[in-house]
Amino acid sequence: MQTLAGKKILLGISGGIAAYKCAELTRRLIERGAEVRIVMTQSAQEFITPLTMQAVSGNPVSDSLFDPAAEASMGHIELAKWADLVLLAPATADLIARIAAGMGNDLLSTLCLATDSPIAVAPAMNQQMYSNIATQENLATLARRSFHIWGPASGEQACGDVGPGRMLEPMDLVHRAEDFFQPADLSNIKIAITAGPTRESIDPVRYLTNHSSGKMGYAIAEAAAKRGAHVTLISGPVNLATPANVERVDTDSAEQMHQAAMDAATNHDIFISCAAVADFRPAEIATQKMKKKSGEDEMVLRLVKNPDIVASVAGLTEQRPFTVGFAAETQDVEQYARGKLSRKNLDLICANDVSQQGLGFNSDSNALHLYWPEGDKALPLASKHELGQQLISEIIDQFKAKQH
Ligand code: C5P
Repeated sequence: MQTLAGKKILLGISGGIAAYKCAELTRRLIERGAEVRIVMTQSAQEFITPLTMQAVSGNPVSDSLFDPAAEASMGHIELAKWADLVLLAPATADLIARIAAGMGNDLLSTLCLATDSPIAVAPAMNQQMYSNIATQENLATLARRSFHIWGPASGEQACGDVGPGRMLEPMDLVHRAEDFFQPADLSNIKIAITAGPTRESIDPVRYLTNHSSGKMGYAIAEAAAKRGAHVTLISGPVNLATPANVERVDTDSAEQMHQAAMDAATNHDIFISCAAVADFRPAEIATQKMKKKSGEDEMVLRLVKNPDIVASVAGLTEQRPFTVGFAAETQDVEQYARGKLSRKNLDLICANDVSQQGLGFNSDSNALHLYWPEGDKALPLASKHELGQQLISEIIDQFKAKQH
């Protein structure tokens, strides 16, 4: 998806080992529609060549304040005015210090003085250098001046140390850039999302559940909240952090999730049912832990049907939200998905073929096919993070089309 379409990003590279990741970073930014121009410090060129960066960015690389040819094509003041965002990655302790001090002793530091565009800094250095009070004070100075500080990550370092100071990975920086440019255009839309598995108790210590990780539902919640939507995330038991600016309602069983969904449904514009709800629950929950009985090699659990949450929401006759379901199928995907679309009275269904390796449950990526009464659209294999963004865009388009 062209999440950065038309955005002009000036990537300033300074001399840290993470500079080798800048070719990948540039490609991923361009892939999303950004135009990227590169400025390199002298020491950055010890780690990655200007030729590489020129080839991946499709633009000549600038590296000198005093290059008559470069100044004649796009001078440093022009370059400073051109950018929608200046991204310093990797930003070494030295570059951070020079910028905090307001120095202009090379092209990159001069550009930072001359631009009135926002500047994001991705620190990258040895953990001791990062923790040094001088670096910390310089970063605090930049933060106070409204620079965006992206990272660092923590972990193993090129020098063998372990700790904070690693540059964020290229895709993490791309996501920061996407978030930065994301318009908050859904601020008047309320979305309720169910996510994760349910747990159906058998006795005080045992339950029936499934392999749903909740990742897809959480990614959708995150994407919607980032566009300013008011998001209520009705979650089954999962091991995931609540995305920023999302109101989370924790539930356990399908009946609890059903109750929470019905409470939320009528005051939300859109309801997205991403949860893997258990179809059946034990007819009785034993009050004490069930014991093995000697001589018995079998046990029979009687199950009763759970309420169909999404069908209950879609069946509301008043204040019914635009209702979206999911369908995990292993064969005849379209036929089964369309069957559910009409049987459950949904406005849209997102089908995935879970027979394909690496897709669906518990995986970090997925591919979906959307069906609605008048059409369909394939969303090819992508990370759940990206798919969440695409899905929100498609759902909003269909929701708006239905309103008109
Ligand atoms: O019928 P099936 O379980 O395949 O339908 C999947 C869709 O129905 C999903 O959107 C799922 O969240 C929803 N569902 C539900 N309550 C159930 C069973 C499924 O909301 N008891």
